[in-house]
Amino acid sequence: MIESKEWNWNMVRGESERIWLEPSIVSYYLIDRWKKQEKENFLDLGCGLGRHTIQFAKEGFNTRAFDLSKEAIERTKKYATQENVNIQCDTGDMLNLPYSDSSIDCILCMNVISHTDTEGMRKIVKELKRVLVNGGECYLTLGSKETWGFKQEDWPLVDKNTRIRMEEGPEKGIPHFYADYDLILELFADFKIEKIFHLQDYYNKGDKTYSSYHYHMLIRKEE
Ligand SMILES: C[S@@+](CC[C@H](N)C(=O)[O-])C[C@H]1O[C@@H](n2cnc3c(N)ncnc32)[C@H](O)[C@@H]1O
Repeated sequence: MIESKEWNWNMVRGESERIWLEPSIVSYYLIDRWKKQEKENFLDLGCGLGRHTIQFAKEGFNTRAFDLSKEAIERTKKYATQENVNIQCDTGDMLNLPYSDSSIDCILCMNVISHTDTEGMRKIVKELKRVLVNGGECYLTLGSKETWGFKQEDWPLVDKNTRIRMEEGPEKGIPHFYADYDLILELFADFKIEKIFHLQDYYNKGDKTYSSYHYHMLIRKEE
């Protein structure tokens, strides 16, 4: 299994920091859904700068923030202090989550679990199943094989689904796992897949427009 590598959040300041502090659109839906389901224990897995950690804590969830990057956790703690919310922060590797079996009701894992190889992905899926309560849900995103990154033949291939990202920036040197629909069905066979989308999003860098494809999934643990 490839060694895990955190994002270099020191490179994310100014305008790009502002982008990473704005909650994703789907988080509002999840708050509504999980409140209706009376879920309490929430995990922001790979929290980054804590945009969802703070949002969920403010909505009354018992919130844990987890990331491999000490810088990310320090900045999330600082943000929580500024916003006057109580959260639990843990640094570690998603391949071995420091939470007991059946202890988490809901997990948001936004642009995180693709940062490994195929073997790592199988391990993470097992970890999600282990820490979720029965009936617990996880919303996650996965890089798609349709996206430009997977087609970069000069980026090292780790296994048939994984490349090392070589573009300058906070993700340089980090493994990226890319999925397709059949692989997703195989990986998540032990979960009930509630929703699955294949989304193309567009973003601007300088005067250029880029787009990327991700799978978005809502999965549920059912024994
Ligand atoms: C693209 S950022 C997303 C941050 C956050 N989920 C958000 O949406 O704002 C990916 C995050 O995953 C973290 N990460 C990467 N590999 C990890 C691992 N093996 N265990 C825990 N966190 C990891 C990175 O350090 C980074 O903070």
